[in-house]
Amino acid sequence: MNHIYPIKTKVSRHQREQLLQQRPLLIWFTGLSGSGKSTLAVQLEAQLHDAGFKTYLLDGDNIRAGLNKDLTFTDEGRVENIRRIGEVSKLMLDAGIIVLSAFISPFHADREQVKNIVGSENYLEVFVDTPIEICEQRDVKGLYKKARAGEVKNFTGIDSPYEAPQNPDIAIPTHRYSVEESVDQLMNRILPRVTAE
Ligand code: PPS
Repeated sequence: MNHIYPIKTKVSRHQREQLLQQRPLLIWFTGLSGSGKSTLAVQLEAQLHDAGFKTYLLDGDNIRAGLNKDLTFTDEGRVENIRRIGEVSKLMLDAGIIVLSAFISPFHADREQVKNIVGSENYLEVFVDTPIEICEQRDVKGLYKKARAGEVKNFTGIDSPYEAPQNPDIAIPTHRYSVEESVDQLMNRILPRVTAE
């Protein structure tokens, strides 16, 4: 940080929150590929939006097609992917927005880093807790099949680790509940956190 002198803006986060009439929050979905992160995040965002909240969804495949297209799926690539998303989320929270993020984010230390970057009071962790057998059965993108055949390397759960959260704020076993039930449960927990006081 040599010769870097951050400026101070005249408009504060508090003022932006007041204008938008909401309390920003980062809703961090983590889980295996095919666990249902994007499905839940897309539906939750739609319901929050319909309820009048200003939201933005950051999703792994979308971000990796643009901002993070220089990154691979090695451990280093994943660490940098999540660090950048932590920083982007921090900016969006400062802008007053409710951020939903759907990344595998396989490493405990990286999720902790995001929590530290944005502040623990702004962070809500949702573990999309779908067993790998079910994800592999679903295989919506055909990636498990390719990983088993060795055509995709460093695939999470096959030849790259997933460290399940030990203490998530919310865990959703998607194989036991419908999308509607899961999103209802999320809405009930999240609405009190984002509604202006
Ligand atoms: S990570 O681990 O958080 O950096 O991954 P993320 O940015 O969420 O990207 C996951 C999506 O990338 C596709 N994909 C892979 N996933 C896991 N391992 C490997 N090797 C891989 N290669 C491509 C896949 O579509 C993931 O999307 P989801 O929605 O999780 O299935």
